[in-house]
Amino acid sequence: MADKIRWGILSTAHIGRVRVIPAIQKARNSVVAAVASRDLDRARDFARELGIPTAYGSYEELLADPNIDAIYNPLPNSEHAAWSIKCAEAGKATLCEKPLASNAAEAQVMVDAFARRHVLLAEAFMYRFHPQTQRVKAMIAEGAVGEINLIQASFTFDITGREDDIRLKRALAGGALMDVGCYCVNVMRLMTGEEPDDARAFARIGREVDETLTGILTFPSGALGHLDCGFRALTTNTYEIRGRRGRIVVDPAFIPASNRETVIRYYHDNVCDEIVIPPADQYQLMVEDFADALLNNRPPRFEPLDAVRNMVAIDRLYASLPGH
Ligand SMILES: NC(=O)c1ccc[n+]([C@@H]2O[C@H](COP(=O)([O-])OP(=O)(O)OC[C@H]3O[C@@H](n4cnc5c(N)ncnc54)[C@H](OP(=O)(O)O)[C@@H]3O)[C@@H](O)[C@H]2O)c1
Repeated sequence: MADKIRWGILSTAHIGRVRVIPAIQKARNSVVAAVASRDLDRARDFARELGIPTAYGSYEELLADPNIDAIYNPLPNSEHAAWSIKCAEAGKATLCEKPLASNAAEAQVMVDAFARRHVLLAEAFMYRFHPQTQRVKAMIAEGAVGEINLIQASFTFDITGREDDIRLKRALAGGALMDVGCYCVNVMRLMTGEEPDDARAFARIGREVDETLTGILTFPSGALGHLDCGFRALTTNTYEIRGRRGRIVVDPAFIPASNRETVIRYYHDNVCDEIVIPPADQYQLMVEDFADALLNNRPPRFEPLDAVRNMVAIDRLYASLPGH
């Protein structure tokens, strides 16, 4: 393998266009070699716009390309498992968008398919790579808040006006919990280092999917997690961790701008420390970790089994919905 990973992009998804492809193009150990779409003209236009050398009119052609080392999979959630498994069968390392699959059982089948073939798989939860997330995790480990009593996490935005978006379609495994609530669940599991032992949710269901959802997770240590997520409110992406010794507030938490510093607010002993974190492109850091793992034959920083566990918690929240 050369010193740079050659990436193939599975579809002309918006998130690829605006965040992940530019991040791969900036990454020190990666190049974007090809893109595939269900429509050749769309693939060609996209390739021209983003400076990608090769365009394919089917996903199968991309997977058959021997000059591709890794695939970035930003398909609708319902398609993650089937197409990622095809990537595994083609021997292509795969960075798959969050949430990893439609449910935990599907996610486990995916993880097994990659493990059996010794092919790399990772879930694209990019916020974990931001230095501010790492810093908060270190603060928790050092006892900054004491034992975690409660975590509150929120991720909302307003989708109004985009009523044909994949997120609003049940058949594509849409829903607010799937799309943005998954971050809230993830950060609670990351910060507590535990898996929830119970889950309850309430939701407002729109035409097809949960459009606003609040939920509570309980953790074995006694910590409680309260999350809210949704498609019908102004953008919020934040979390707060409380214990008897302190309180940490992170805002923005999951999608900080790559060109701006972020501030962690640490309340303790009647003062508030503002911890300034320099700007970072969390997408680029994620891509570089994945490519490094592939080049050096090591696991990715966050193991794929974590994605299955995240889906277990999501499944439990959905299963608890009244009338589910
Ligand atoms: N990590 C992040 O920051 C982040 C942010 C946003 C979204 N995401 C995740 O990324 C994925 C894509 O989100 P997005 O907003 O970028 O989606 P999108 O713009 O709607 O793109 C999805 C792409 O999938 C392809 N596709 C295949 N089957 C499809 C079908 N039945 N219906 C619609 N499209 C289909 C289409 O590409 P072709 O027509 O070219 O085949 C389409 O462009 C989701 O899993 C989402 O959760 C992650």
